[in-house]
Order: sequence, then C-alpha cells, then structure tokens
Amino acid sequence: MKLLAEYRFPEGAWSHVTTVAAVAVFLAEELKRRGRPVRVDVVRAAALLHDIGKAPGAPRDADHAATSAHIAAERGYAELVEPIRRHIVHSVLDPVAAPQTLEEKLVYYADKLVARDYVGLQGRFRDLKRRYPQTTATFDLCWPKVLALEGEVFAPLSFGAGDLPGLLGLG
Ligand SMILES: [Fe+2]
Repeated sequence: MKLLAEYRFPEGAWSHVTTVAAVAVFLAEELKRRGRPVRVDVVRAAALLHDIGKAPGAPRDADHAATSAHIAAERGYAELVEPIRRHIVHSVLDPVAAPQTLEEKLVYYADKLVARDYVGLQGRFRDLKRRYPQTTATFDLCWPKVLALEGEVFAPLSFGAGDLPGLLGLG
C-alpha cells in the first residue's frame, strides 16, 4: 500500500486492486484450508501491486504488467515478479508466459473478475472489449483458457464462481 502511494497510484484504481486482492486472498485461504500449498501473503502483495505500472510515476516497459513486475523486482520483491508479470490477459495464450503456480493463477483469475468493482468474468471481458475494441479477437481467444483456469481454481472448493459476490459481500 505504501508503494502504491509512493508511485501516486491513481485514486480511481485503488478500488480495482483492493477488490482483486480481496478475491484472490479469499480463494487462496479457501484452497489452503483444503490442503493446497499456496502463499497467501504473496497472493495479497502481488494482487495489490499488479497494476502499479499504470501509475503516472512508473517507467514504461512493453506493457503495464512488465512495468509492474519491473518495479517489484527493483524493490526486492522477487517472489512477486512472476505473479505480477503473468497477470496480463493474453498471457494464457502462451504456454511459456501463462500463469503456472497457484499464486500466479489466483492473481490472474481475480483480476479477470474485477473492473473498478466486482463484475464477474463476463462483465470484465465485456468491459475489456469496450475499452480495447481493436483487441476483441485476442480476448475471444483467451476466453476458453480463462474458463478452464476458473474450473481449475474451483475444482477443490465446495462453492462456485457465482457464489463469490455473496461470500465476499461484493455486488
Ligand atoms: Fe488489474
């Protein structure tokens, strides 16, 4: 949170990153309770910092995920670099760049449920297509991969994605 403030992270984007962190941490804790090895602190910090590269004070790399990962690395948060770098929507299309670890998958997935507030996967993809109409075809290619990732996240859990807003008090 201090780092976000230091980089003058835009006020309007705090709701996005704190909601992404709430969702990702909730899922991490539930998975941990079911015996899945996951570092909840890494998930929380990576979720909070995943978009820091969008801050006006940030350097410019290939994309905002690369910039955010670059900042995490520079500040000595090595364990946050990959979860942050791999959260970019189209990473799932590349087996090398796609999220691999549970921490990486949870940050990626939670980010795809939240616009400014919680909107769910469909709402988020609708929002992305509206904001980046030239990338609609790429988003359509990502969609089945994201659905598969959702299935993987919820397989060990006794509730589904549709239960998240109620469980988290989001709407
Ligand atoms: Fe994000």
